[in-house]
Amino acid sequence: MEEYFSLLEEEIQRNGYGSEPASLYEPIRYIMRLGGKRMRPLLTMLSYSLYRDDIQRILPYAAAVETFHNFTLMHDDIMDQAPLRRGKTTVHKKWNVNTAILSGDVMLVRVYDIFLRLDVDKLKEVLLRFNTCAAEVCEGQQEDMEFERQRKVTVEQYLSMIRLKTAVLLGFSLELGAMLANAPGHDREVLRDFGINMGIAFQLKDDLLDVYGDKKNFGKQQGGDIIANKKTFLLINAMLHARGKGKKELQQWLSATRFDKQKKVAAVTKIYDSLGIRQLTEKRIQEYFTKGFQGLEQLSVKGKSITLINFVESIAKRQK
Ligand code: IPE
Ligand code: IPE
Ligand code: MG
Ligand code: MG
Ligand code: MG
Repeated sequence: MEEYFSLLEEEIQRNGYGSEPASLYEPIRYIMRLGGKRMRPLLTMLSYSLYRDDIQRILPYAAAVETFHNFTLMHDDIMDQAPLRRGKTTVHKKWNVNTAILSGDVMLVRVYDIFLRLDVDKLKEVLLRFNTCAAEVCEGQQEDMEFERQRKVTVEQYLSMIRLKTAVLLGFSLELGAMLANAPGHDREVLRDFGINMGIAFQLKDDLLDVYGDKKNFGKQQGGDIIANKKTFLLINAMLHARGKGKKELQQWLSATRFDKQKKVAAVTKIYDSLGIRQLTEKRIQEYFTKGFQGLEQLSVKGKSITLINFVESIAKRQK
């Protein structure tokens, strides 16, 4: 695993993304070199290595998945007005919004540049899958933004939204490794479904950490979702379960237009605490990880999946 991580890191450091104007490319190097878990490209590598040993061959494509992810983060941080990413100032704050839009755009172009290196027989099927996934991420992100202003969002609508904005990319990352390795069609589907279930669990955990994560460790603004009225699993359930005074207070915070951010975060967190929202969310996270692992049993190379399973278990326990 550590070897995979350093191979990938070298591949990422090697890419300069472009040179002039430096103000366009510097933010790309900045975000790509801020670190991060590198979960998606590692999933691609782990999935490929279920079938083949020549991992070097696919490093650029694994790095392409990480570039795409970082492009979505750069734009997501504009949309979410986020000040911090991986413990550092976000691109639109350090430079400006226009730079973050354009640097993000060119990152997506660079992803296509990398995929263009594929053999013609692979190129079309990879791009078809990638484009479906990339459009779905935009669909999910649009819903995420619309839900901020929507009073009533159901748990089902929320789950469908996070499947799009987050889970399908994990599914694609795993399927990509299998596609590049010429894995059987059935395995491709099993791996994609595994990615989707773990992706839903992953976003649920992200929502949980946004409220309950350790401030120093998390690397993002704490309570950002509460400040923005994000319809997270936590908020939706609080609205469903709150009664009387608690319900009224929650509604007041949701409709407040001018407020002290810290006070809102503290008050809403207190309501979550009183309703056991944290435990409820943890239970649901576990259910999706378990569902994912059960599906993985269907893999034709099941006996080789231990490293992948261990990696996903470490992701399940993550604190950042
Ligand atoms: C953050 O993804 C965006 C979500 C989909 C929740 P990660 O938690 O994988 O972010 P990094 O890449 O490790 O920083
Ligand atoms: C992000 O969801 C999903 C994508 C970037 C597509 P969030 O908005 O919750 O991610 P963070 O918390 O900013 O990393
Ligand atoms: Mg967002
Ligand atoms: Mg965000
Ligand atoms: Mg989040």
